[in-house]
Amino acid sequence: MVERETWATRVGFLVAAIGSAVGLGNLWQFPFKTAANGGAAFVVFYLIAVTLIGFPALLAEFVVGRRTRRNVVGAFEDLGGPGWRVVGGVALFTGFWILSYYNVVGGWVLRYVLGSATGAYFDDPGAYLSAVASGPEAVAAQLLFLAMAVGIVAMGIENGIEKATKVMVPSIVVLMLALAAWALTLGGAADGLAYFLSPDVGSLVDNAWTVVPDAVGQAFFTLSLGMGIMVTYASYVGEDDSLPVDGGVIVVSNTLIGVLAGVVVFPILFAEGIDPATSGPTALFEAMAAAFASLPAGRLLGVVFFGVVALAALSSAISLLEVAVSYATDNTDASRPTLAVGAGVVLFLLGLPSALDTGEPGGFSAWFVWFDAIAYKLLLPLSVLLVVVFVGWVLGRDAVAELREGSPGSDGLATVWLWTLRLIVLGGIIVTLRLGIGSLFL
Ligand code: PFF
Ligand code: NA
Repeated sequence: MVERETWATRVGFLVAAIGSAVGLGNLWQFPFKTAANGGAAFVVFYLIAVTLIGFPALLAEFVVGRRTRRNVVGAFEDLGGPGWRVVGGVALFTGFWILSYYNVVGGWVLRYVLGSATGAYFDDPGAYLSAVASGPEAVAAQLLFLAMAVGIVAMGIENGIEKATKVMVPSIVVLMLALAAWALTLGGAADGLAYFLSPDVGSLVDNAWTVVPDAVGQAFFTLSLGMGIMVTYASYVGEDDSLPVDGGVIVVSNTLIGVLAGVVVFPILFAEGIDPATSGPTALFEAMAAAFASLPAGRLLGVVFFGVVALAALSSAISLLEVAVSYATDNTDASRPTLAVGAGVVLFLLGLPSALDTGEPGGFSAWFVWFDAIAYKLLLPLSVLLVVVFVGWVLGRDAVAELREGSPGSDGLATVWLWTLRLIVLGGIIVTLRLGIGSLFL
């Protein structure tokens, strides 16, 4: 076995983890879910879910990864014995499940970067979406997106993921800030922000049964939990990093980018008179494309906007690919590049149903909707539940000791964390699972 790599710097770990967290979940799902579910009222709800459930669960994954310095399956086995391998197995499965369609969307985004540069969608954004969303073009784009992710992961932790995300993440932040500053000068800014954020407690209460599992599922997805990512990334971290501080930085940056995305998207849509609600789940592609088609300098703006989305999606995809590759490198003698290509091939095949199924014109294929619903409502909460039971109740005080490494003076807080995990996070997930499964099968 080759010697295990580590991040060259603490900033390298932070940037890679932020790159994983910031993705399509922030730029695409968060703004539209917020607008549809009660605006600022949903944001408050989501912040509670992220703070009380997502953040403690993130630290639980960090603890397992850093303590063992192993891949996600080996980590749980090391700590709990062979039976607990199943926790890593579920995480690995969940990650593959999600990445299979995530790569397809990543492919679409690449098409839209290109389509913005050439103006290909300017005449008829709806027809363009139908053409690129499924069929051979979607397969080709998915392949391109995956190839980029495989290329980065093949180069390793320090030379691949760390170097790449050190460029990608700051670019995302700077370009998003620039886009937001510009969007706020548009005529639609006030209406757009009102649409995004006006609190509508009534709609939140009316939809509580779906909003609760949605907000918790979103918190897990957006923080890249339940897929083995944060366990794996933390396995390359040194003992002297403070996990709570790093986790806090990640959670806050991730949330800010989601809010920033809304500040970019809605003023643009309202300025161009496009109703965000009508285009449903493909809103990012259809509605934003329509806006760029009619804006002055739309090509440039389109390239920048979809370019940011592409960077965010790619820095997330590599984190999930790394989960599989780290598992394989810990268990075989094959080289990292070989294993990265192998994982890429498997993912390519798994993505074919989502990429090929045409579904409704310009809409999502049935596969897609189904994959996504199962991921949010079942796999993610279940996977995080297993981690939380293990860390909270099996590791217990050992987990507290690991959390305190690198954070002197945090004894009391670490105990609060343990009890939050044992009671609040666990209870929250059980409610989420119950509601989520109810809405899936009833
Ligand atoms: N945190 C990511 C996001 O919000 O988009 C979720 C994610 C999905 C991470 C797929 C990694 C991945 F491959
Ligand atoms: Na995210």
